[in-house]
Amino acid sequence: MKITVVGAGNVGATCANSIATKSLSDELVLIDLEEGFTKGKAMDLWQTSPISLFDTRIIGSSGDYEMSKDSEVVVITAGLPRKPGMSRDDLIGTNAKIVKSVTENIVKYSPKSIIIVVSNPLDVMTYAAYLTAKISEQKVFGMAGILDTARYKSFLASELNISPKSIHAILMGGHGDTMVPLPRYTTVSGIPITELMQKDKLDAIIDRTKKGGGELVSLMGTSAWYAPGAAAAQMVEAVVRNQRRVFPVCVKLNGQYDLHDVFLGTPVVLGRNGIEKIVELQLDEEELSLVQQSALAVKETMVVLDNMKLF
Ligand code: NAI
Ligand code: 2OP
Repeated sequence: MKITVVGAGNVGATCANSIATKSLSDELVLIDLEEGFTKGKAMDLWQTSPISLFDTRIIGSSGDYEMSKDSEVVVITAGLPRKPGMSRDDLIGTNAKIVKSVTENIVKYSPKSIIIVVSNPLDVMTYAAYLTAKISEQKVFGMAGILDTARYKSFLASELNISPKSIHAILMGGHGDTMVPLPRYTTVSGIPITELMQKDKLDAIIDRTKKGGGELVSLMGTSAWYAPGAAAAQMVEAVVRNQRRVFPVCVKLNGQYDLHDVFLGTPVVLGRNGIEKIVELQLDEEELSLVQQSALAVKETMVVLDNMKLF
């Protein structure tokens, strides 16, 4: 079993570290642009094996995708963060070109691979990978929902002063301000969250969750990596161990929630074939409206990409 992570920066390296320490594969390939940096990252990680006690062989490659040949799962974290003076649309163009060239190489050497996209803007980059890969939508999907739900759960755990392990929640929508945390599907070991927390406190946590990525950027001057890397690795684990776990994942919707041809975060069953099933929730009117608004915002970014005529 071989797994490849493209982009050995903050998120890619953290994801790779988690894949190795969980022993999810025999071989792990890191691919980035610069030779010394990529080989060094891979070597450093491999040198943790006698300490963390894993066998996964880790190698680094600067753009030689032949080394990733026959990977069963590939995680794409390659891309630039938004820089001052760069519009959201500029970022779409820059990162879509990166995701396109990375995906072309992945499918060339690993046509059967499952592709997990992490690069931002997440929903539209997942669309870009899907357009490029020309493989089943079951096998190309994006990571955001596990991260956003983890942030939501961590805020709830802090507020209630309880273990995050006892919090179960689901969140839908795009990876941005329009995401939709769902209090009606949030419990503490089965106890509805609304029985344990005042509405104003819960609303404040929902608002903080929506801005969770931005809060970290303001604190660190760059975007987060520990939780994003761990979240991507959790998806890899669900696939390679065929766990059939239910997670919010960015997938192509085909009529669910009256939405067509849009990539959006929704609960799915994740297993060996990738998206084993899209779980359609019985949303109430307000929840459905929020999800549809989020889909509209994502659709606008997909149209921006379409108009660039890169595909
Ligand atoms: P980073 O700058 O630390 O790493 C990105 C790496 O991609 C760099 O090492 C760069 O050299 C590499 N790269 C660029 N073009 C490449 C190409 N053509 N082929 C191979 N490698 C290439 O950035 P970081 O923090 O790791 O973030 C990576 C991406 O993930 C960004 O787009 C970021 O916005 C996104 N992100 C997404 C999250 C999500 O929830 N989906 C959460 C956090 C970050
Ligand atoms: C995050 O949510 C910026 O997508 C990145 O941390």
